[in-house]
Amino acid sequence: MSEKCSAAKRGVYWATVCGNKQIGERFYRLGLEFSGAGAEAFAKIGAGQFAQLDLSETALPPADKIPDELADAAERKILLRRPFSFVDVTTKHNKTSVDILYCVIGPGSLRMTSLSAKDTVSVIGPLGNGFWVPDGKKTALLVSGGMGAGPLQHLAKILTADFRDINVTAFAGAKTVEELPFERQLDEISQQLGFWLREFARYGVESLVATDDGSSGFAGPVTDCLLEWLGKSDSACESMVIYSCGPEAMLARVAKIAKEKNIDCQVSMERRMACGIGICQSCAVECKTDRPGESIYKMCCTDGPVFNSKTIVFHS
Ligand SMILES: Cc1cc2nc3c(=O)[nH]c(=O)nc-3n(C[C@H](O)[C@H](O)[C@H](O)COP(=O)(O)OP(=O)(O)OC[C@H]3O[C@@H](n4cnc5c(N)ncnc54)[C@H](O)[C@@H]3O)c2cc1C
Ligand code: FES
Repeated sequence: MSEKCSAAKRGVYWATVCGNKQIGERFYRLGLEFSGAGAEAFAKIGAGQFAQLDLSETALPPADKIPDELADAAERKILLRRPFSFVDVTTKHNKTSVDILYCVIGPGSLRMTSLSAKDTVSVIGPLGNGFWVPDGKKTALLVSGGMGAGPLQHLAKILTADFRDINVTAFAGAKTVEELPFERQLDEISQQLGFWLREFARYGVESLVATDDGSSGFAGPVTDCLLEWLGKSDSACESMVIYSCGPEAMLARVAKIAKEKNIDCQVSMERRMACGIGICQSCAVECKTDRPGESIYKMCCTDGPVFNSKTIVFHS
């Protein structure tokens, strides 16, 4: 991971569903298992890389399970594959299992809720670059908003396993406690020790929660929580790296903080994607060039989705 991950073994693979657990009103965790060439291709997938799922043949859930506001959208045909990143990847006995943390927001993700054990899904991947570890870093700060927590949990696993001299702290934000995509928060004593979330604690990673309405943890945006933490930290900014994933307005704020404090920062950008492999040009991200005031467009699916925050022209 010290170099950008490559998508060298990418292909179209069949995965078998091994679980699909609801963990919140709109949040689910889908387990997929690959064998053969798919298992090999996904075994070393880097945190932040993604795959395109074909949900065109997946059935809708029963009518009483379709939220009213999605009733019209539910009927739309799913022509394009949908991109998803991974919350966890494990390999055992020549099989690779990947977990996807997903939120139900439209016809594709709604259909995903009806997937059950033994169903099969066509998956194109691994795609995109993923997060990387610059030389000389001692502190990694993982800053997520909403569903951005998925790839950062995968990153926490990799950092704590392969980069043991790096201290990792996670910050997870959402509008309200109900919109935090985690199973359960830890008890009060664990929270006092700085371990709010089980999903990060399992890797020994401290985590802090921030909610806009103050219904849990820090009251306010997760970026203010990060700023407060940085204000108390005595680590050198040059030895830190921030990894961030979530809504673009949050990424823009994280990038601004990183610039002001002179901290390396990588942001995972999200764009609507059609092909996922650099052909359709639908996922353009405006990036700065070395010349002041000049910008170019890069493809989120092949040049990203992870970018150095300094290079992005944010519009929010
Ligand atoms: C690299 C990448 C990784 C992703 N990883 C995850 C993940 O781990 N978990 C997860 O829940 N979601 C993830 N997403 C988002 C996911 O692809 C969308 O939620 C999904 O495509 C929605 O499909 P749908 O048919 O349910 O809804 P759609 O009808 O396609 O979309 C519903 C609404 O959401 C908006 N929307 C959908 N996708 C995007 C997007 N990419 N950017 C901005 N607005 C969008 C649409 O404009 C529309 O208003 C990721 C996206 C990208 C690009
Ligand atoms: S999704 Fe087609 S070029 Fe990126």
